[in-house]
Amino acid sequence: FIFRHNRGLPYVLPRNDLDYIGNFVNMTFEIGGTHDPNPVLQRALDVLFILHADHEQNCSTNAMRAISSAQTDPYSSLSGAISALYGPLHGGANEAVLTMLREIGTINNVPAFVKEVKEGQGEKKLMGFGHRVYKNYDPRAKVIKGLADQVFEVTGKNPLLDIALELERIALEDEYFVKRKLYPNVDFYSGLIYQAMKFP
Ligand code: COA
Repeated sequence: FIFRHNRGLPYVLPRNDLDYIGNFVNMTFEIGGTHDPNPVLQRALDVLFILHADHEQNCSTNAMRAISSAQTDPYSSLSGAISALYGPLHGGANEAVLTMLREIGTINNVPAFVKEVKEGQGEKKLMGFGHRVYKNYDPRAKVIKGLADQVFEVTGKNPLLDIALELERIALEDEYFVKRKLYPNVDFYSGLIYQAMKFP
């Protein structure tokens, strides 16, 4: 409803013949009954939601638990959790990855960017890399990378993808990232996928 409201579009009500994801996509993008849900994109969204939910005591889950422990109502607790999720070191990292890739601009600028990150000593980070728990690779990143290929087959390739692939290649070979066990996380590719699906 917020997505529609921001665009001055009429709200779309849920339909009984669609499942959860089908309704989510339809209620977001339907205009005048013309939206034709694509099964590949819907499956991708389903997988993305599952991967994001399947996650232990992270920052937003922790916020939800802390707020609701005061017997705060679930709506208020959830809005606190979403605010935590929005932070660039947590769920907001996927948006930060897109900003970073745009800043890099072309594949040729990747080595210079990586050098800057290394010399910045934590000031500048490689967004979408590193995880507090997954120190040997974020298993979700592997699933998402495969998903990206399927999505781009339908939507056309996101032009930022080549920069992301080169960034990943260089970082995975670099002593700085290897030594600190920094691998791509779930947010490295998810932003590219959401953007290709036309989520702002
Ligand atoms: N880019 C460059 N360097 C990074 C880095 C990154 N993304 N993440 C960690 N480092 C470096 C730190 O500077 C530190 O270096 P030092 O030992 O020389 O001081 C070292 O790696 C360990 O950092 P630390 O802050 O202890 O790691 P952490 O495991 O507590 O942090 C994150 C986890 C997720 C907060 C962190 O990796 C990060 O900010 N990543 C980018 C944001 C992101 O993608 N978030 C989504 C997570 S799913």
